[in-house]
Amino acid sequence: MSKPIPVDKGIDKTLTVMKEGYEYVSNRTKKFNSDIFETRVLGGKRAMVISGKEAAELFYDNDKIERKGTLPPRVVKTLFGKGAIHTTTGKVHIDRKSLFMSLMTENNLEYLRKLTRNFWYQNTERMQLMGKVNVYKESIILLTKVGFRWAGVTEKPEKIEQHAMDMDKMIDSFGSVGTAYKGYREAKKARARVEDFLEKQIIATRKGKIHPEEGTALHSFSHWRDFQGNYMDSRLAAVDLMNVIRPLVAINRFVAYGVLALHEFPGERERVSADENNYAYKFTQELRRYFPFVPFLPAKAKVDIDFQGHVIPQDTMIVLDIFGTLHREDLWEDPERFYPDRFENWDGSPFDLIPQGGGDYHTNHRCAGEWMTIIIMEETMKYFAREITYDVPAQDFTVDRTKLPGRVKSGMDIENVRLNF
Ligand code: HEM
Repeated sequence: MSKPIPVDKGIDKTLTVMKEGYEYVSNRTKKFNSDIFETRVLGGKRAMVISGKEAAELFYDNDKIERKGTLPPRVVKTLFGKGAIHTTTGKVHIDRKSLFMSLMTENNLEYLRKLTRNFWYQNTERMQLMGKVNVYKESIILLTKVGFRWAGVTEKPEKIEQHAMDMDKMIDSFGSVGTAYKGYREAKKARARVEDFLEKQIIATRKGKIHPEEGTALHSFSHWRDFQGNYMDSRLAAVDLMNVIRPLVAINRFVAYGVLALHEFPGERERVSADENNYAYKFTQELRRYFPFVPFLPAKAKVDIDFQGHVIPQDTMIVLDIFGTLHREDLWEDPERFYPDRFENWDGSPFDLIPQGGGDYHTNHRCAGEWMTIIIMEETMKYFAREITYDVPAQDFTVDRTKLPGRVKSGMDIENVRLNF
């Protein structure tokens, strides 16, 4: 007999979700004392929300879970793009994913590490001249430069800032799933502008008018053929190329969180600077666990599923609790404490540290850029902790867990930047 599933009653809880943000799920898993509850969202659609390690294991079981057609259309149109890899399934997904994963060679990742380090270092003079620097904004621009260079994309320096701001709008748009139509429209326009630019780069590469280096994302996406021997449509190639650069730019949110953590938590700056026993790595992992970014992920049941004795009927929407899983007491001791050393003895499970999805990189939708994110954050945090000194003026340091997507309210201002010798 199937155990009853607790219900968060209401005809459509989308507005409640937007109002409670990252806390919506954990408020209910705690209230119901259950790893699963039923709700209704996006026009009253029935959804089963699941939380925890066992939930993540289920969510990444391709025999039981379908991902195609489950993302809200608005999120596809602004954040990921039409036809994006995130919306694919089965053989097409595994084939396209192999293209993304082929970029993650040791050489490419080492190159990314060096680029990040050098770009921040070279940017110091600019930050000195600026007086006050908003870390959130400054890192969008810097990461756009890193992303373009790493991907083999060339652009006039004066255009970079516009692309950077456009990508930030796309990322911000996922907070407007239920409301904020204006933000949605602007994000769509922003996406069209960057897609147009990247598509021109793909076409120019194919025609031999520009020559990105072999192994770069631009070169790979331009020349890749699918399992049937077909080149990608140039627009689709631009969409997927953007799915390398836009999320890289989104790391700016972690950068602002990181600079906040260096400021707020005693001793962290010294420990990251010394980087003994890979402390910068552990600090980065803890940043990704502790601070809010992706709240949850949607899917649907491919078959009738048994989850802890509860039956989830075929075709029902399933939502995996990402943020709540990163803050569960059964997985993380004292989860509200910022404590990088917890990663000293972490077993590397693919189902508990899931800020960028879980499961397998090649066969599941787990983030293709997780190693890139860790590398960029390690180098960026070492730069802020070790290479420069700065003052932190009074400002609003709030990280409001009820607002999607999460960010430091002030964006993290620093001033009077000095280079350490
Ligand atoms: C997928 C988060 C950085 C490329 C994902 C997913 C999440 C995520 C939650 C979906 C997982 C799932 O559906 O199961 C993040 C966060 C990032 C980040 C929070 C840092 C701010 C990156 C970077 C890249 C990247 C730097 C560059 C390559 C992708 C791609 C997918 C993806 C291509 C789709 C994978 C697939 O559908 O198989 N990411 N990501 N992400 N991410 Fe990231």
